[in-house]
Amino acid sequence: MRVLVTGGAGYVGSHMVATLLAASHDVVVLDDLSTGHRDAVGAGAELVEGDVGDTALVAALLRDRRIDAVCHFAAKIRVEESVSAPRLYWQGNVVRTLALLEAVLDAPTPPALVFSSTAAVYGTPDEVPIDEEHPKRPESPYGETKLAVERALESYGRAHGVRWAALRYFNAAGADAGAGLGERHEPETHLIPIVLDVALGARPSLAIYGTAWPTPDGTCIRDYVHVLDLADAHLAALHHLVRGGTSGAFNLGTGRGRSVREVVHAVERVTGRAVKVTEAPPRAGDPAELVAKVERAERVLGWKARRTELDAIVADAWAWKLRAKQG
Ligand code: UFG
Repeated sequence: MRVLVTGGAGYVGSHMVATLLAASHDVVVLDDLSTGHRDAVGAGAELVEGDVGDTALVAALLRDRRIDAVCHFAAKIRVEESVSAPRLYWQGNVVRTLALLEAVLDAPTPPALVFSSTAAVYGTPDEVPIDEEHPKRPESPYGETKLAVERALESYGRAHGVRWAALRYFNAAGADAGAGLGERHEPETHLIPIVLDVALGARPSLAIYGTAWPTPDGTCIRDYVHVLDLADAHLAALHHLVRGGTSGAFNLGTGRGRSVREVVHAVERVTGRAVKVTEAPPRAGDPAELVAKVERAERVLGWKARRTELDAIVADAWAWKLRAKQG
């Protein structure tokens, strides 16, 4: 396949590029490098520096590179920032994606599209594990914008025959350190890289956001899924769509939840270092527990997370931290 990867210089996107190249597909990356990193784009891929909201540019790429499928990763991703600066999210995630979709709709042979969605479309769940039919009640502009794009895909699919898959990631984690790829967010807000920074001595302590949640150890539970498993899921979704499979939304998780304290203990085991923690008030908008029901992706896409051991996920993220520290 010839695949256009928007946001291919970012965390999940760069792992997808590596996965596509390893499977001998042709890859064109479209990234404005506002948060992504040029050196994260695999050497075999073509990097086009530009805006996914530039319909003419995307149309030219679809036509000139004879693109079969698009993986759309480029987006704003910080829940808290979306609350304080929602316009960045409505513009960046919705307006730009609709502009990209204009080019997709107008292409002579419209490419299949795989969209990075999120568990944040569900909001606080009525029950866990969460299946795809669970009511959608996003609690942040971030989640609202991802859901808005899903809705656009549904209606464009119905009216114009666009083939699409929305992949709702739970908590992306891990790295492919051997390939020089990992998480490099500025600023970093995600749990595992923060705990690893504490182990590394780059931060004094981890503030645990709430220790009186209704969970066995009082801390929040999340479903951490390896970024290489996410990339495999995108590849499975691409194959599914290109073969004429039905469009739809899929949860991507392991089906297993881990608490913040379990993550801290995993980091201590993997690094052999003690992690200092402090107790902080709950973070606004955090649900107590988010765990995916993963049967649909397995049944329809034939995908299941394989790298599910928390210690192994943390070990991969640690290998990346050590490598990044050495420059
Ligand atoms: N946490 C802490 N201290 C920290 C950072 C995080 O206790 O310094 C806790 C959070 O409260 C949460 C857990 O660790 O319980 C995981 O937090 P992350 O920030 O790593 O991830 P989130 O679950 O908040 O967010 C993830 C994705 C978002 C997505 C969301 C879906 O990063 O993009 O899941 O709800 F929107």
